Amino acid sequence: MSFQFSDDNLKQIEFLKTRYPSLDALSLPLLWMAQYQDGFISLEAIDEISKITKLPPMEIYRVATFYTMFKLQKQEKLLVSVCKTLSCKLCGSDEILDHLKSKDVEIEYVECLGSCGTSPVMQIKDVNYENLTPQKVDDILEELL
Ligand code: FES
Repeated sequence: MSFQFSDDNLKQIEFLKTRYPSLDALSLPLLWMAQYQDGFISLEAIDEISKITKLPPMEIYRVATFYTMFKLQKQEKLLVSVCKTLSCKLCGSDEILDHLKSKDVEIEYVECLGSCGTSPVMQIKDVNYENLTPQKVDDILEELL
């Protein structure tokens, strides 16, 4: 299987090359592009990003595996990222997690989602859902599933 950026993404990459100080600085935006394009980052996409940035594939892989928001495998079910950090923990994330376990979703635990004042928080497809209650989780999932 091969990977090729879409024509729109290739145009965006050419634009970004004029905006970033060096090619290796494109690693993160290109990883995002690959993920949005295919829903995950394949090894073939890593090879393509390596060619564009002129960094070894292992360097791109290292970046892709460091950040939990990058997915290296296709998600079969809706991925729900639940914050497990202190504010969310104190405000009821355990109850939210227990509630989510009965749903047909894939759950991952993540560190602070940057919205501590509105804990507990979960994230689905880059959108934060805040001030969660079990009922609110049900309403959100009903809309998304
Ligand atoms: S602690 Fe959960 S969003 Fe910050």
